[in-house]
Amino acid sequence: MAKENKKNTLTLTDHRTGKTYDVEIGEGSTLRAMDLRQIKVNADEFGMMGYDPAFTNTASCRSTVTMIDGERGILWYRGYPIEQLAEQSNFLEVTHLLIRGELPTREELEYWTYEITHHTFLHENVKKLLEGFRYDAHPMGMLVSVLAALSTFYPEARDVRDPECRRKQIYRLIGKTPTIAAFAYRHSRGLPLVYPDNDLSYTGNFLNMLWKMSEVKYEPNPVLEKALDVLFLLHGDHEQNCSANAMRSVGSSEVDPYCAAAAAAAALYGPLHGGANEAVLRMLNEIGHRKNVAAYIERVKQGEVLLMGFGHRVYKNYDPRARIIKRIADEVFEVTGRNPLIDIAKELEKIALEDDYFVSRRLYPNVDFYSGSIYQAMGFPVEMYPVLFAIGRMPGWLAQWEEMLTDKEQKIARPRQVYVGSPQRDYVPLEKRGKSPAKAAS
Ligand code: CMC
Repeated sequence: MAKENKKNTLTLTDHRTGKTYDVEIGEGSTLRAMDLRQIKVNADEFGMMGYDPAFTNTASCRSTVTMIDGERGILWYRGYPIEQLAEQSNFLEVTHLLIRGELPTREELEYWTYEITHHTFLHENVKKLLEGFRYDAHPMGMLVSVLAALSTFYPEARDVRDPECRRKQIYRLIGKTPTIAAFAYRHSRGLPLVYPDNDLSYTGNFLNMLWKMSEVKYEPNPVLEKALDVLFLLHGDHEQNCSANAMRSVGSSEVDPYCAAAAAAAALYGPLHGGANEAVLRMLNEIGHRKNVAAYIERVKQGEVLLMGFGHRVYKNYDPRARIIKRIADEVFEVTGRNPLIDIAKELEKIALEDDYFVSRRLYPNVDFYSGSIYQAMGFPVEMYPVLFAIGRMPGWLAQWEEMLTDKEQKIARPRQVYVGSPQRDYVPLEKRGKSPAKAAS
């Protein structure tokens, strides 16, 4: 290869064979893992692979949805800084931006809002499904189950290669997720279910389905409605996180989007992902008072517990969403009264940000650190926190799903492995296998 043509290549030397390979460097300083396959000692070998447990240094796709600069603490949706969107936009407009790629015109927004608003109702049989859950069933378990069950109500959704079909399911999933969430909540409280009110905003209607009692018309508090709307918006997408990766990976089998979204919601449920906001509240309650913060930090440093709501795979700086949420908290507390847990959270943050353990590991508050204190002040039980996260994240999952299906380079997701198990051996009949160790047999 001529010297000038080598500019965008990387030269690898395999010292086992002495052979040299020039591999192309692509966008974003990437190597194509398939280019490694040519590296082999013998012609009949499989060839070299990348080994990257938990995908810590592997790009699984090219994406135009969300950009995170973890070093500088920057987050954009389709190029728009999250701070500008939180300040000037609203959740429904942002769902359009994430999924369609552009901010909608006035007409587009009206159409989009109409379609989503008119897909908020659930089939009556869903109520029977919910009745089957115990009174104390976790609402995330109910959400995951109902999302999967929706695939049985809309069998036509399997036609994932049809853009019109996908469009319809997108309206349904964004429209129905708050209804499922509110029904799950009312079920757990033994309260009658409240049906959607199409006169209200997306978020106002959600509050209506949650809190309406005997009043003829529910009127959401505008400050709380706005605050929750911004919280949904801040959770809209976060590039290739665990649940987005689940949505893409499961969706790559061309299953319908309800099953793929159920898989994504299941991934979100874990305490290291969307379940962290619930875990933060439990942690703040356990600490109980500002005076106990220093002792708790010591336990974290001893490796006994994690400081929930801190740290992030990508952010090595303050999560910009946490900064906005901290501001929203003050507005909400003006209405609800101050949640005393916020003082414990602020003290934790203050001590942690000065402590070498956290500084050296670049651990900062993430999106979940302050959101729980707001949700609690608004009256949500802790179990609902990951559900609120899921409502906000649904458009992100759908945007990632749409992008995956329309990307010609994507195929069914199927990672490789490095087999480290036993070499071939012969089957041993049961009577020749000897005795189990006493403990294992008991
Ligand atoms: N508290 C104490 N130590 C921590 C924490 C924490 N929250 N997070 C990371 N560390 C330590 C970790 O023990 C390791 O230390 P060492 O180098 O001595 O082994 C170092 O920091 C690097 O951490 P890591 O586990 O290699 O980082 P990761 O990228 O694999 O994990 C994380 C990222 C978010 C899972 C992790 O920071 C964590 O468990 N945080 C708490 C749970 C949480 O808040 N999750 C919400 C994430 S944001 C919402 C979302 O997008 O889902």
